[in-house]
Amino acid sequence: MAGILENNFAQQEHLMLDFEPMDAIHREFLTLCAALAQADQNAYLERLDALIAHTVLHFEQENQWMQVHDFPSAGCHRREHNAVLDVIRDVRTCTLQGDFEVGMRLAQELPNWFSHHVDTMDAALAKFLRETDAAAATAA
Ligand SMILES: [Fe+2]
Ligand SMILES: [Fe+2]
Repeated sequence: MAGILENNFAQQEHLMLDFEPMDAIHREFLTLCAALAQADQNAYLERLDALIAHTVLHFEQENQWMQVHDFPSAGCHRREHNAVLDVIRDVRTCTLQGDFEVGMRLAQELPNWFSHHVDTMDAALAKFLRETDAAAATAA
């Protein structure tokens, strides 16, 4: 299990997007994913709820950035956020019904989904926000 945690931390540098407000959120997401992957059956639900609480705020923050700055691909990005949250909540229901294996599969798959999401949608948003910030600084 220590390997999973080390792996996640090793991945963090690769996943950073040079936009600190988003990178800070993403570090927290990875830490919570690693904690979930190490959870036994007793600790699982509490850690999943911590991850859900974080993810709601994480996605709301990105959705808000997209809305405020009129980001062109906002609809697609927002839909993916909603779809992932739906999956996580479905898994929560399954684990409540006693299916711990589907919970562990989620813990294994979430970092893979996240890596892809960061490389595509979040990277595009971070670049847009960096340029928006730079434009605002130039105009000031
Ligand atoms: Fe994100
Ligand atoms: Fe995102």
